[in-house]
Amino acid sequence: MIVTTKKLFELAYGKYALGAYNINNAEQTMGLFRGCVDSQAPFIIQISKGARSYTDKLMLEAIIRAADQIFPQAVFAVHLDHGDEKTCMDCIASGFYSSVMIDASHEAYEKNIEITKRVVDAAHARGIVVEAELGQLGGVEEHVAVDEANAKLTDPNQAKDFVTRSGCDSLACAIGTSHGAFKFSGTQGLRFDVLVEIQKRLPGFPLVMHGSSSVPQEEVARINAAGGRLAGAKGVDANQFRRAAELGVTKINIDTDGRLVWTRVHREFFRDFPEKFDLRDPGKVFMAEYARFIAAKNEKLGSAGQLAAVRAALG
Ligand code: G3H
Ligand code: 13P
Ligand code: ZN
Repeated sequence: MIVTTKKLFELAYGKYALGAYNINNAEQTMGLFRGCVDSQAPFIIQISKGARSYTDKLMLEAIIRAADQIFPQAVFAVHLDHGDEKTCMDCIASGFYSSVMIDASHEAYEKNIEITKRVVDAAHARGIVVEAELGQLGGVEEHVAVDEANAKLTDPNQAKDFVTRSGCDSLACAIGTSHGAFKFSGTQGLRFDVLVEIQKRLPGFPLVMHGSSSVPQEEVARINAAGGRLAGAKGVDANQFRRAAELGVTKINIDTDGRLVWTRVHREFFRDFPEKFDLRDPGKVFMAEYARFIAAKNEKLGSAGQLAAVRAALG
């Protein structure tokens, strides 16, 4: 069942966070639904601009509609990840997405508000909710490269004004994470001090954490042992998700970790079975491994086991 994030965030606020997982193909989608149903978790499917053009945006929509039929128990939102204004408007017009992210965080403050408000007005007219971003993550985002050294954390003093004037429904905050597999150097980590200040100014308002893959070291080691080269990869400690949830984070974005599962499965498969060439053989292993990975992640997020309560609240 496709829902907006509004009710999901209300139910989760202060208690747990929903996993927001990027998908690009049928195998990821099957593993995602299987993992969320197995762990009885509501969830958010994220589609990036790159994912929309990988096969075709209609292909992804069709895959998700099919998964909804295959797993009738599932409760999820369909969300555009890191949209520009044009892509947001396209998703709003499609009638398929229940949530969009407008990412104008690379623009000057006033311009960010202006663009976000235009998207909010169009989305709300269709019953669609909007995530916006204030501050900039380190690393490489879809349409903007930000030097880690210059990454700008969210300014808590701007948060209330931004939310009030843009009308957004949730706020992606930059609190020290970055996208990809190489997040922190040295003792860097999540800036809970900044999150505390944001929550003080926006009590009860849903916050979003991007760049939240954990980059498990055992996964990286297996990839490297099977021919990969991912030296120095490092991610967010998944044991910190619950603390973030207590501080108002209701959505935690995870993409890179799923890519690592895919890479490990396929590298190991072709190393161990060099004579094979049926794409379905590693595909089957991947779907099962991805489902296990998703279920384990939902346990860390606290969303596992919440499905019955969410279904009851949705009526
Ligand atoms: O934040 C970006 C997500 O990981 C999506 O990545 O733009 O390569 O699909 P992508
Ligand atoms: P990761 O690269 O840490 O998985 O972050 C994904 C993300 O923020 C998608 O918007
Ligand atoms: Zn992101």
